[in-house]
Amino acid sequence: MKKTVLTGIKPTGHIHVGNYIGAIKPALALAKVADYQPTYFIPNAHGVTKIHDGSELRQLTYGSAATWIALGLNVNKAIFYRQSDIPEIFELNWILACFTAKGLMNRAHAYKALVDENHSNSRKIDEGIHIGLYTYPILMGADMLMFKADIVPVGKDQVQHVEIARDIAESFNKIYGPTFVLPESKIEEDTAVLPGLDGRKMSKSYDNTIPLFCEPKELQKRINKIKTDSLPPDSPKDPTTSILFMLYKEFASEAEIVQMQERYGRGISWGEAKHELYVVMNRFLEEPYETYKELMASPKKIEAILEEGAEKARAISKPFLQEIKEKIGLR
Ligand code: TRP
Repeated sequence: MKKTVLTGIKPTGHIHVGNYIGAIKPALALAKVADYQPTYFIPNAHGVTKIHDGSELRQLTYGSAATWIALGLNVNKAIFYRQSDIPEIFELNWILACFTAKGLMNRAHAYKALVDENHSNSRKIDEGIHIGLYTYPILMGADMLMFKADIVPVGKDQVQHVEIARDIAESFNKIYGPTFVLPESKIEEDTAVLPGLDGRKMSKSYDNTIPLFCEPKELQKRINKIKTDSLPPDSPKDPTTSILFMLYKEFASEAEIVQMQERYGRGISWGEAKHELYVVMNRFLEEPYETYKELMASPKKIEAILEEGAEKARAISKPFLQEIKEKIGLR
């Protein structure tokens, strides 16, 4: 039996290099492993927790789908779908909610962070927090449990959500017997936190990102903004602490990485290091960016791919949901 690798990135912003290195690149590598069944999706319903503008969410969803495809996800091998096309997930969401302790949601980091923020700003603790945000982990649990995910590649911030899914699955299995597979999270240790232009974690909320797909001029501009120290051009530099080198490693060949390491040791100017980074990034991104633009210009193509994916996904979710409903007496 193939192992199911399942993941998604919620479409609440334009995909940046941090998303690519931390989530998409490792997921694409796992998708190529022969005995893994990649099951990748666009969690657009999770996007509704944040984006309350229909055309924006639709565009972001297309953008995210086009990105995966442009970067070479093999949609024939993978099951690649849009969450909202799978109604079974939302039925399961309710069922799982009835097996989820409220305390478990109270302890979820994302919710707790919002409560803490309200608290420290002397607002009412639940101000601005809707139930969709509160129960976000249950829907995420439904995503994973519906497709019997074995392995879930995610960033560190999502590990707790996978733990929660395991808890919910166990509560259900204890009563109805083995039904759900307990998913395991898999984090990319060395690239879990990629620094942004200013050295803080690359994140939309800090406005310090490098977009994955943009015009070469814009890419160059963004790279030039990366913060460096004030070492003179010819003094030796430490590649291990350089954001430029961290990024370079992700896009260059093994031989280029070794050479660059030596150049840092001998002393390379930051200007030159930036230029070299631009060269390897642009070399890698050029072609996918063209494909991305093509897809974005014809959403029908994206729709067709997602429709095919939804069919494959529902061939799994429909019978499994029936089985679950029979167990609990809904059928
Ligand atoms: N919460 C994830 C994010 O912030 C998206 C997501 C939704 C997900 N459901 C999932 C990830 C299931 C892995 C497995 O991007």
